[in-house]
Amino acid sequence: MANLELNKLFAAPLVAGVVFMGAGFIGELIVHPKTPKQPAIALGSAPTQQAAAPAAQPAAARAVEPISPLLASANLENGRALAQRLCASCHTFNEGGRNGVGPNLWNIVNKGHAQVPGFNYSPANRALADKPWDYEALNAFLAAPAQAMPGTRMAFAGIPNAQQRADVILYLRSLSPNPAPLP
Ligand code: HEC
Repeated sequence: MANLELNKLFAAPLVAGVVFMGAGFIGELIVHPKTPKQPAIALGSAPTQQAAAPAAQPAAARAVEPISPLLASANLENGRALAQRLCASCHTFNEGGRNGVGPNLWNIVNKGHAQVPGFNYSPANRALADKPWDYEALNAFLAAPAQAMPGTRMAFAGIPNAQQRADVILYLRSLSPNPAPLP
């Protein structure tokens, strides 16, 4: 009798296994699963590359639009107003004006970088002392100061609009007894 009970104990998992396998076999007979040749959602590399494409363009590749062609049609009064609004919190523009957070900007066009006496320039700007602030140097700097001169102390986001930059640069040009020739 005890033997019979033991046999039942061993038989139970066997029977369960056979039933389980049989169920799978019968199930497959009934349902006929078909694996599609093309997956419904493609997980290939193509979409990933597309998404990465815009970010792959480095910031340096987005060159600043040249300002020279825009200066001829720039608006001096608009430049003066923009300079008052955007720059005057840090800069003075009059001859002999005091330095503030930024240096006085009288006669800045074609002056060397970092030449205003008594102003504590950044090493980044002082390193360019033999380079003039010509129109395109001003253009690149005013478009995005920190990008044009990494390490600059000028905490100003920049003027993204090229025509507004041209207006401001035309105003800076006017701050001189004999303004630099237009390009
Ligand atoms: C938050 C203050 C601040 C604002 C706003 C600001 N600047 Fe400056 N600017 C500075 C400082 C500080 C420097 C010195 C940068 C350095 O040495 O790296 C500077 C430097 C400059 C220089 C180089 C001067 C030189 O002698 O080498 C020019 C040109 C200039 N600014 C123009 C402008 C114009 C134009 C505007 C407005 C569109 C403006 N800045 C807005 C603080 C400011």
